Parts: sequence; structure tokens; C-alpha cells
Amino acid sequence: MASVLLPTDENLELLRNVLRDGGLVAIPTETVYGLAANAFNSSACENIYQAKGRPATDPLICHVASVSIAQSIASFNQLSRHLADLFWPGPLTLILPKAKVIPDIVTAGLDSVGVRCPIHPVFRQLIESLEFPLAAPSANPFAYISPTTAAHVADNLGDKIDYILDGGPSALGLESTIVDARNESAPVLLRHGALGKTEIENRAGIKLIDLASSVTQGPAVAPGSALKHYSPMTPLVLSTNPLEDHETDSSACLLWKKPAGNISGNVFWLSANGSLEEAGARLYAALHEIDQLGFKQIIAQTFPEEDLGSALNDRLRRAAAK
Ligand code: TXA
Ligand code: MG
Repeated sequence: MASVLLPTDENLELLRNVLRDGGLVAIPTETVYGLAANAFNSSACENIYQAKGRPATDPLICHVASVSIAQSIASFNQLSRHLADLFWPGPLTLILPKAKVIPDIVTAGLDSVGVRCPIHPVFRQLIESLEFPLAAPSANPFAYISPTTAAHVADNLGDKIDYILDGGPSALGLESTIVDARNESAPVLLRHGALGKTEIENRAGIKLIDLASSVTQGPAVAPGSALKHYSPMTPLVLSTNPLEDHETDSSACLLWKKPAGNISGNVFWLSANGSLEEAGARLYAALHEIDQLGFKQIIAQTFPEEDLGSALNDRLRRAAAK
């Protein structure tokens, strides 16, 4: 079973050495926990795919401490540099032309690499004195819900890895937004995520081509965007009126907003005051918890279709996919 370590100086140095030796460490980020390895070490990265049961066609994101380190593993044009300056460190992944130093296994053979610079303080403490970037997908078994606590990682991958760095619950609770700005005149949104599309567009003064909303997109667009993804074991269905659809004791009803009045019987909600940010931060944790309770079905309320709500609906639709 994996050891869950708190971020003391001693533990951080131990984990840096595990990474230097080609080991795997689950790490906290502000979005979700990642399963990290030295991005320059092909066999360490191979072990990430093994531990997750992830297809070799689905590339890994490289995590860095700064724009200048990112520039040593990928090339930036003016627009991607502008986006990095605006939103890094933070929940934005940029797809960039890769440098030779990144092994093919990291990018699943593509000539581009996903690069992200997280803001989580524990992650930054760990990476700032490492000599290499960290390749890290979300630390969940392939297609299952992403982890937002060290305990989620321990429950789902604890028998496959040795170390989990506990940095507390992920504040945002939803994966990074992915943008491919290699073509400056036609930047593309590849995955909705914790950074809103409108916020990117407004602050960067650009329009994004939204390829993330299409649930039928294939491998050519974004390798990891298979429709069924982020799924609990318990079958999940979406509803705009979940309390009405919720008829039996055998199903759980998951609302994003606390309903008015007295509510009884297997009804869960994500935010008491109807904050989408709070609901988003708690969605995966709630799905993990409900998944342990043995219901036959989860009836989940759709979020309002706006920015963060769209990102959350995207995850619910994929969780509901058969
Ligand atoms: O918030 C996050 O992004 C988290 C934390 C740990 O940083 N990571 C994460 O990684 O969600 P992962 O591997 O679960 O999702 C990354 C997605 C995958 O769908 C992958 O296919 C896509 O990014 N991706 C990676 N490199 C790519 C590339 N070069 N071109 C297109 N898509 C890429
Ligand atoms: Mg993932």
C-alpha cells in the first residue's frame, strides 16, 4: 500500500529522490491530484501508463515551475506566451510544439506536448528544486473519476504506487482547461476546465474555437477526450429535474444547489448557497463518496450552461456515457 506523506522538508526531499530514481509519486495540484514521474525518463513514464491502465495513445501533460523552464521543453509563439503570462501559474494547459528532449512516450508519439504550470504551494515546493519537469496525468485508474484528495488516490491506486504527497483537498477540484494556440489566428479550446473559456477570451482578447464541447471528437483532435471518462462505478444519469426523477430508495440524487424546503432520502448537494465554484470544487469528492454507498444509480442535476457550468456538464455527460 502507498505511503501518504505530509509535505515536511524531509518528506519532500525523500520524494524528490524517488522521482530522481525513476519512481512514481502522486502529487497535489490545485485542479486534481496527478501521478508524476520524471518527464525525461521514458521508463518512469511508461510506468505511469501501466499504473493507470491508460492506453499508450493518450499523451501525458508536462508540469513545470515557470515559463522559462517550459521554454526548454516546448516552443512558444506570441499568443501562447501571452496566455502563459496571463494565466500561469494556474489551471491552464497549453499544447505546444515539443522539443526533442521530451521522450516520445510522454506525447504518445505526437510532435506537440501539453505543458502546465500549477500554482499549488506544495506542488511548487516539490518541483522548484527538481532538475526535470514532471509528466503527470490525473492520478486515477483510466476513465474513473479524478482524485481531489490524497485519500481518493490511496483508495483507487494505492496498490499500484508507493508514495502519495498529501497537499490537502484540491481547491478547484476540476482538471485544467486545455488550449492549443499553435495556430495564432485560430486558437482552439480542447478541454473545458477550471479556467473559464470566457475568462480566457476576455483577458487575452481572443476568440477560441470550441472543439471541447463536441462529444464526438476523435483521436485526431484530443487523444484523451474519449466520451466515457470521469465515470463513477455507479451508473449515472443526468436530469434537469432530479428530485422528480428520484423515485426510489435505490438511487442517489446529486444536486449542485441545496433545494428549498425539507428534503429527505438520499439527496446530496454540492453547494448550500448555490455557488458554482463551490459545487465544482466538490463534484468529484461527492461522486467518490456516493460511489462507495452502493446505490443502483446516481441522478445528477445538470449545471447552468455557462463557463464553469459548461465544464462541469461536460464531465457529467462523460460520466453518464455508456
Ligand atoms: O488539471 C490537470 O490538467 C491534471 C493535473 C494533474 O495537472 N492533469 C490531467 O491530466 O488532467 P490527464 O492526462 O488526465 O488529462 C490530460 C489531457 C488528456 O486528455 C490528454 O490526451 C490531453 O490532455 N493531452 C496531453 N497532451 C496532449 C497533446 N500533445 N495534444 C492534445 N492533447 C493532449
Ligand atoms: Mg485524467
